[in-house]
Amino acid sequence: MRKIGIGILCLLTVIMIGSPFVVAQDDSETKYQGSDGALCIPMGTFTIGPPEAVTPLRSLVDFPHSRHFSYSCTKCHHKWDGESKLKNCTTSGCHDQVNVPEKPLKDGKYTAEAIKYYKYAYHNQCRDCHRDLKNKKDRFTNSTSTSDQTFPETIPTGCVECHPKS
Ligand code: HEC
Ligand code: HEC
Ligand code: HEC
Repeated sequence: MRKIGIGILCLLTVIMIGSPFVVAQDDSETKYQGSDGALCIPMGTFTIGPPEAVTPLRSLVDFPHSRHFSYSCTKCHHKWDGESKLKNCTTSGCHDQVNVPEKPLKDGKYTAEAIKYYKYAYHNQCRDCHRDLKNKKDRFTNSTSTSDQTFPETIPTGCVECHPKS
């Protein structure tokens, strides 16, 4: 359903480049274990696709994982306890539904039930964060503020920016 593009960088290297997630903890050896038991977090680009049962209408989505490490890990891995092996977003019982929910919105937001539909989960996370940030950037650019706040060059918000035409 997804594969790791560039590969895996292990904890030692992560410390050297000063990734914000590395906090001095005595038991750090037991954390962030890959399937082979090594201490790894994927630094490369994931290709995110739908669950196997779905034939995608759009191209798959590239997700540069480490470009997002200025956020806390649990911003996205919101069920993670910081200890256990990480689960996929589409793990059974999480965002694994493949049928479009009937009444997905309440007060303009996806309901807890609707967010189990994998597409709404991703759009809710990925797209909404990008959109909020882009709105903020636009407001800032159009304002007369003299603060030195900076924003990323590109923040994909349009369909084709995330699902490129193949
Ligand atoms: C902006 C969202 C986001 C942030 C922030 C983020 N991740 Fe991820 N991470 C993902 C997504 C999406 C995947 C792919 C999950 C999938 O395939 O279901 C992933 C996958 C992973 C995996 C592989 C899990 C597996 O076995 O499939 C690990 C390990 C991981 N992240 C660790 C981290 C750590 C540690 C941090 C904090 C430094 C972090 N992530 C920050 C979104 C994020
Ligand atoms: C909490 C906010 C947040 C979430 C959630 C998030 N992103 Fe991002 N994303 C960013 C920011 C900020 C940048 C710009 C990073 C930079 O320029 O270094 C970015 C950059 C990107 C880029 C690179 C654009 C370029 O310059 O080429 C892609 C692609 C992307 N995100 C895809 C995703 C996908 C797919 C997801 C969901 C799995 C996701 N993002 C979730 C905030 C977020
Ligand atoms: C910030 C990135 C992002 C943006 C912007 C975005 N999507 Fe997605 N979309 C995703 C991710 C991630 C998934 C889940 C992975 C997948 O199924 O391709 C997804 C899934 C989908 C799916 C279900 C899978 C499939 O291909 O059938 C459809 C349909 C879809 N998006 C259409 C759209 C449309 C239409 C727009 C514009 C209105 C849009 N997306 C904008 C990231 C994005």
